[in-house]
Amino acid sequence: MTRKPIVAGNWKLNKTPAEARQFIIALKNKVAGIDTRAEILVCPPHVALDAVVDAARDTKIAVGSQNTFWEESGAFTGETSTGMLESLGVTHTLIGHSERRALFGETDDMVARKLRKVLESNLTPLVCVGETLEEREGELTEQVITRQVTAALEGTAHEHAGRLVLAYEPVWAIGTGRTASPEMANDVHTLIRRILRGIFGDSAAEGIRILYGGSVKPDNASTLMAESDIDGVLVGGASLDPGSFAEIIRAAP
Ligand code: 13P
Repeated sequence: MTRKPIVAGNWKLNKTPAEARQFIIALKNKVAGIDTRAEILVCPPHVALDAVVDAARDTKIAVGSQNTFWEESGAFTGETSTGMLESLGVTHTLIGHSERRALFGETDDMVARKLRKVLESNLTPLVCVGETLEEREGELTEQVITRQVTAALEGTAHEHAGRLVLAYEPVWAIGTGRTASPEMANDVHTLIRRILRGIFGDSAAEGIRILYGGSVKPDNASTLMAESDIDGVLVGGASLDPGSFAEIIRAAP
């Protein structure tokens, strides 16, 4: 596999700036002992971004936000723009995480607007898609993933394809301890790459990283990342501890 793996941690609503700084200090020491070609990314809550960027300076650890907005400034209470994130030294952002979709009403159209704005900035987007348990059991996985990916990429210029990262996170596997089997996950990754081929052409689609997320732990990370179309992982719970996150980094091919 020539695509460079990404090991990303999504901290969700966890860690104060002080706790986040401590985490980075600990992770930095562990990562120094790991010979890996993987890109390492942590996505803290917005209030901890500044502290994490500062603590991660001159390390291999990149910093992403968990969310952003499609306008740059104005009357949008509670939002954070791509320019603001960039001004802090943030380099990546998650878009359309299933918790944003389910709990905060993010629609496919909002995800697409956010993605278009991020691609106008210098941030690297990680666009999250995934089906619910009900959808999987109703054999709607292919339909749902196709809709989410196609809608998110609506209006994305082909020249930006190289900057895209996608993350497949089956909702039923998030925080449940129930991981998709590597084969099951890879089937969806292969579907996503097929959709990307249709939109951007074969060679651009070959270069786009597709991460898996949902109960990724040190003991299942390497078999997941060994699959042909799984180019890294997006880790929730197991990314909160520097020891287990470092083990997952070590598991990257
Ligand atoms: P868990 O690893 O806790 O299942 O969370 C996955 C996730 O939602 C990462 O974005």
